[in-house]
Amino acid sequence: MEARIVVLDTTDSTNRIAFTMASEGIAHGSAVIAREQTRGRGRLGKHWQSPAGRGLYCSIIIRPRLAPEDFPLITMTAGLATALALDEISGVHFGLKWPNDIYRRGKKCGGILVESSPLLDPDEDHFAVVGIGINVDDRSDEFDPDIRKTATSLYLECGRPIDKRLLFETLHQKLLVKISILEQDGFSTILDRWKKKDILVGSRLDWVNVKGQKVSGISLGPDDQGRLHIRDDNGLVHEVISGDVRLASV
Ligand code: BTN
Repeated sequence: MEARIVVLDTTDSTNRIAFTMASEGIAHGSAVIAREQTRGRGRLGKHWQSPAGRGLYCSIIIRPRLAPEDFPLITMTAGLATALALDEISGVHFGLKWPNDIYRRGKKCGGILVESSPLLDPDEDHFAVVGIGINVDDRSDEFDPDIRKTATSLYLECGRPIDKRLLFETLHQKLLVKISILEQDGFSTILDRWKKKDILVGSRLDWVNVKGQKVSGISLGPDDQGRLHIRDDNGLVHEVISGDVRLASV
């Protein structure tokens, strides 16, 4: 079956549409793009602001030949592919904030939400939906006040308009290439490249651990399972699997 690219004017969430299409059997590499989302989904249950025509909102369906336990590695792989696509299209250099936010000059330009099919049955044909949101045309005063200080866009970073279709095509191609590298070589090649873009390593971070306690420490970077290692002030190394880590305010 051939991959299909579905382009919508408006939808609630391209991830929701893509997930339905993937459940119905659509081919690896198929994607959904929308000009606007009314209920864009972010990580950790957050909302992703998706005003009409301003950003790239897309979801790419992948059916990787990976063991279910390796599916979490798709998240960082997709982050790397996205950052490299932005570098190529914009001519400026983007960084990664674990697990997969796209940053430049301390501000967030894009985010990724990976949603997988239930991975319990090892014989099932599993898929993942890689949802990618990039701020493309936004001017500073166009961001909602709650993110105005922390968000940036491609326009603000490179000072010229960026063609969203070309951006999508570059991103789509890079994601499929990086996923086949993950399938064939394992995570180490992806991780080495990812670490070169790590904006947190060596910095002091705050995060909330599984017991709900606020902890502070220095980022040692991600390990070969994609877990973030953080050394606290007592020298204890914590492994963070998911959640939100933030740079400590100084
Ligand atoms: C994040 O919180 O940083 C992840 C944001 C992911 C947003 C994208 S936009 C396209 C796709 N559809 C969604 O509903 N969410 C993702």
